[in-house]
Amino acid sequence: MENKKFNICIVGGGSRYTPGILRMLVGEKDRFPIGKITLYDNEAERQAKVGAYGRILMSEYYPECEVVDTTDPETAFTGIDFAFMQIRAGRLKMREMDEKIALKHGRIGQETCGAGGFAYGMRSVPAVCDIIKDIRKYAPEAWILNYSNPAAIVAEATKRVFPDDYRIINICDMPIGIMGFYAAALGKKSSELTPRYFGLNHYGWFTHVYDKKTGEDYLPKLHEIFKTPMAAKGNQHPLDNSWMETFKFMSTMIQDYEDFLPNTYLQYYLYPDHMVSIENPDYTRANEVMDGNEKITFEMLDKVAAAGKLKGTEYEPKGGMADGHAGYIVDLAYAISHNTDEVFLCMTENHGIISNLTEGMMVEVPCHVGINGVEPLNVGEIPTFQKGLLENQFAYEKLTVDACLEGSYKKAWNALTLNRCVNDTQVAKAILDDYIEANKEYWPELK
Ligand code: G6P
Ligand code: MN
Repeated sequence: MENKKFNICIVGGGSRYTPGILRMLVGEKDRFPIGKITLYDNEAERQAKVGAYGRILMSEYYPECEVVDTTDPETAFTGIDFAFMQIRAGRLKMREMDEKIALKHGRIGQETCGAGGFAYGMRSVPAVCDIIKDIRKYAPEAWILNYSNPAAIVAEATKRVFPDDYRIINICDMPIGIMGFYAAALGKKSSELTPRYFGLNHYGWFTHVYDKKTGEDYLPKLHEIFKTPMAAKGNQHPLDNSWMETFKFMSTMIQDYEDFLPNTYLQYYLYPDHMVSIENPDYTRANEVMDGNEKITFEMLDKVAAAGKLKGTEYEPKGGMADGHAGYIVDLAYAISHNTDEVFLCMTENHGIISNLTEGMMVEVPCHVGINGVEPLNVGEIPTFQKGLLENQFAYEKLTVDACLEGSYKKAWNALTLNRCVNDTQVAKAILDDYIEANKEYWPELK
């Protein structure tokens, strides 16, 4: 393994995140050397801009690494060791529809939570499964590190459509992001801490945050610190207002719930009325992203292409290549390829891990990661409050996947009704019917 160069494919190559992933891979070239990166997307023109940027970046900083962008699955997947999969079926335009349709009915339309997560799941599941089938055709043994959203629903689907394919790993960066805040508050590095956590994706709790060296559990200290609203970070882009609010709101959840520390996404399930009340139905997170990060990223790509270089321009990567959003995915690939057995929070099937939750549920828990994929740590029994919430959420997620795979209107309606952020039969039907209309191009037909 020591001198092996890996070939990877970034599925969703045209994403606004891909330039950051490419820079991150440059920064990791000693630890995780790469021979070839293929970018795969269904939108050739958009992806070509990212590909051109990637080739300029590599020519200056990583000449031995080839970058190819393609819409052909055979070219994309043949010979790869890893697929980093991060697709957004329907792009941000449909994210905006998800949000605005739900808000019109007075409900949360968030990307992964509430009705929005349902609509996105119905688009994402068929798209993700089709791509995985193609990957398996051309790269039967490649590791597929999937972080396409809504990850909980996608994980439930991949488990069912590809049973026993342990080389598909579903993972999310949110717990890692939150750990970054904990580490900063403690004056530590994230790598010095190890979490214990349980839940479903975007629906979980930290039960312990240990110092790897001393074994001290910082949970009580963190509870104390984060009871006070986090100060806004000075360099935050004004269009990231909703994230600032989210991090500030963590303190309310921590004050109201003394046990554990919450994933930020719990705000949607535990405070749905408040969350609806602070949304602007005419300007949602999709708008913030389209007018902010996405626009800035694609303007940058155009300028770099025009200049033909990064060095000596305002886009020269300064202060290292690290990229917060993407680094963890290489940590995961490294753990697999070098069999480190390091602990990551991953989604995996509940086989007695959480003893009082349904068997087979895709739970998010600490797992050792190595050459056998993920090997979960035991959690044991969880309290009744969390058990009730999680069983409800799992039933909703399961029905969503059923509805999608079977084309069942009834199950889709049941699913939405069960979602804590919807919770009403008539509202669920009204939202569902509007979503069906908006998603004609993307959803399976529901009968
Ligand atoms: C976190 C979550 C992702 C989510 C992203 C949204 O990273 O873990 O699942 O997609 O936030 O960020 P955005 O900037 O698109 O709102
Ligand atoms: Mn996530």
